Amino acid sequence: MESKIKSATIEDLKRVQELNLMLFEKEYAEFDNTLNCKWTFGEVGTEYFKGRITEDDGCVFVAIIDDEIVGYLAGGLMDTKKTYRVLPNSAELENMFVLDKCRGTGIGSKLYKAFIDWSKSKGVKRLRVGASAQNVAGIGFYRKNGFSDYDLILETNL
Ligand SMILES: CC(C)(COP(=O)(O)OP(=O)(O)OC[C@H]1O[C@@H](n2cnc3c(N)ncnc32)[C@H](O)[C@@H]1OP(=O)(O)O)[C@@H](O)C(=O)NCCC(=O)NCCS
Repeated sequence: MESKIKSATIEDLKRVQELNLMLFEKEYAEFDNTLNCKWTFGEVGTEYFKGRITEDDGCVFVAIIDDEIVGYLAGGLMDTKKTYRVLPNSAELENMFVLDKCRGTGIGSKLYKAFIDWSKSKGVKRLRVGASAQNVAGIGFYRKNGFSDYDLILETNL
């Protein structure tokens, strides 16, 4: 079934949050037990998604099949003035998720294409995405879409 991509509206907020919670629960169960699964529908998470949907410095795209939102991507412009690096206008792909049953059919790539188009419309010249080191599938998707490894963050418990 063909998927359609559109910009999320505030009516899509709850569904986007539901998909984000599925992302958190998957990652929590599989490789990151520091994730706070209450964040998504809490005050901070709700404000974050509302802002990304309604404000000019961010975007949320959703993929729709038969009137069902089956995936989303959220991102935003980066404040490059506050970094120690010399960066052109940059944006960050902050989180994305496609329902298991719809993966591997090009929906993630279509969402990413919409994000590229949005970024270009904002004068962005460089994109960034972070992923848990153990999220081999997610990292495979990003590499396939032209990202290459840049940062490596290491942590230890004391
Ligand atoms: C990552 C994700 C969004 C990709 O969405 P998708 O709709 O499956 O992606 P596509 O079908 O457009 O795949 C595009 C390419 O990525 C590659 N890819 C997808 N899954 C992959 C995997 N498990 N390992 C390696 N490469 C993979 C595919 O090879 C595909 O290339 P192809 O078309 O030449 O075969 C989706 O798999 C997902 O929601 N995963 C769980 C959540 C997650 O990891 N989110 C990202 C971290 S925030």
